[in-house]
Amino acid sequence: MLDLIVRQANLPDGRMPMDLAIQGDKIVAIAPRIEAEALQEIDATGRLVAPPFVDPHFHMDATLSLGTPRLNDSGTLLEGIALWGELKPMLTPEAVMERALRYCDLAVSQGLLSIRSHVDVCDDRLTAVEALIEVRKRVAPYIDLQLVAFPQDGLYRTPTAEENLLRALDMGVDVVGGIPHFERTMAEGARSVLRLCEIAAERGLRLDLHCDESDDPMSRHVETLAAEATRLGLGARVVASHVTAMHSYDNYYASKLIPLIAESGMTVVPNPLINITLQGRSDTYPRRRGLTRVPELRAAGVNVAFGQDCTMDPWYSLGSADMLEVAHMGVHAVPMTSREAMAWAFTSVTQNGAAAMGLPDPTLREGGPANMVVLQARDPIEAVRLKATRLAVIKRGNVLSRTPPRIAALDLPGRAATLDPAAYAPTTSERPD
Ligand code: FE2
Repeated sequence: MLDLIVRQANLPDGRMPMDLAIQGDKIVAIAPRIEAEALQEIDATGRLVAPPFVDPHFHMDATLSLGTPRLNDSGTLLEGIALWGELKPMLTPEAVMERALRYCDLAVSQGLLSIRSHVDVCDDRLTAVEALIEVRKRVAPYIDLQLVAFPQDGLYRTPTAEENLLRALDMGVDVVGGIPHFERTMAEGARSVLRLCEIAAERGLRLDLHCDESDDPMSRHVETLAAEATRLGLGARVVASHVTAMHSYDNYYASKLIPLIAESGMTVVPNPLINITLQGRSDTYPRRRGLTRVPELRAAGVNVAFGQDCTMDPWYSLGSADMLEVAHMGVHAVPMTSREAMAWAFTSVTQNGAAAMGLPDPTLREGGPANMVVLQARDPIEAVRLKATRLAVIKRGNVLSRTPPRIAALDLPGRAATLDPAAYAPTTSERPD
């Protein structure tokens, strides 16, 4: 007697229909028809069953604090940082934990089971660090939560930031963070990249920098990061987050930079929901979109994973822990509308995010962990289109959450997966020169 069988699922790679047999916390078989009984069955006929979603870039210490102590009037990154600075002295561990745990409940219902959260260390009390370490422990049965020691106000712009960052790592924070474009000068920004890479190398840790989140074409810290990642052999342990300035670089410089990024082996994490609203604020018209160069990075072989960044905090009033909403915005903001690119957007918020965080490949396979989401969609593109309902969320063989299907009218006829494979090619405008 098996513990669970998920019947007649569509898998993201196009195999369908397939039964998935689960015993304990493992998938023990995947086959067109499994003649066995189970304590529990889920009918997934015509539904996509995929690995859980991954958010490789989030700020759990600030989430759900919208309006405290006030709203961001200008909508800019800089006012958001200033506003967070007003809230920081008022933080208590209890309040941070209460918001974070509420967010984690929402995340589970959305099938979001792996999250990398930055945690601000520019607070000598390290209130948020202490709170999120406790949250990481409490949610461990259902969410893989990684924490990044993030000097929000600048490693060298704040007198105690470096000391606090090292203290946070000593307390058990997982990843080294930074924000070179917010240091006082370009030179100090570059110096912070060198120092943070050394800390990561010395301690054998991963590194994830907010890098060039700016419209300034001269903000070029990702170049230093790529060079240091290569020099120190940090490779796939490195993430460059945001990198919006790459939108504003001239094409010649970008053509030199992107191979350097590829050579380093680092991941790039664009955050389309937040950056489509934050960037270009000082432009008149035309107004820049401000997303990094996703098709060119992909073509160079760089791992690109979309992140969410914010949900109802000083920087962003919206958000709902929905990585399909993130992928949906990525498709629009890049833009990339070929079927190949839209299917890739789904991978970007599953497998690519896991690679960014250094987690095992979550592809559903025999012998792999029984972690999956049953979606009210037939295939990855439909899931992105509908921001599909998470009918069931399964972690280590346990059904954590169920949501009733939305209106039946969503079940339109037709099946994208039956399209000619030639349809899965980049559009002319997505093909890098
Ligand atoms: Fe961020």
